[in-house]
Amino acid sequence: PARLVVLVSGTGSNLAALLEACQDPAYGARVVGVVADKDCAGLEHARSAGVETTVVALRDYPARGHWDVALAEAVGVHDPDLIVCAGFMRLLGAAFLERFPAMVVNTHPSLLPDFPGAHAVRDALAAGARRAGATLFWVDEGVDTGQHIAQVEVPVLPGDDEESLTARIKAAETPQLIEQVGLLVRSAGPGRP
Ligand code: GAR
Repeated sequence: PARLVVLVSGTGSNLAALLEACQDPAYGARVVGVVADKDCAGLEHARSAGVETTVVALRDYPARGHWDVALAEAVGVHDPDLIVCAGFMRLLGAAFLERFPAMVVNTHPSLLPDFPGAHAVRDALAAGARRAGATLFWVDEGVDTGQHIAQVEVPVLPGDDEESLTARIKAAETPQLIEQVGLLVRSAGPGRP
């Protein structure tokens, strides 16, 4: 099976779904490491699945570039085939991306290029958007600018707040992530930029 390393910063519901999908040998992947930038609930999902966890906190490094190198090292020890950002709320810098070319995907809770950044759901509501969704894309150095792999749309409904819309997006985002990561690892890699 392909070796997945998952990067998390938060609750880790997408990570939990990936861990579950990987139980099926036909899925073609297993999570060999989970790396976070802070202590977070996502790490618990990894620990209870017996997956090795590492925290690489930005504040422990004198500069962003040093953190990038340390993060790359923490990921690299797992010899990954694919790196999945699943609620990882930091930008990856050149040192990281150059070490893992065309190997990093991210799932983002909007219909990119609309609403990039850390508050996509809130921003969509504030803008009065009628449609929302999730985009899986290849990570580059920009803020949610990489080449799209897949996108799924959900409606914004009257009365939605951040919580209700986030839940509706995740209900579509997670199956998309599971399906697309499965397709990526079971293919020889065509489709990568
Ligand atoms: C997901 O909805 C993901 O799209 C979003 O954080 C959530 C993490 O949920 N990521 C971003 O906003 C990245 N800019 P999870 O921790 O429960 O998987």
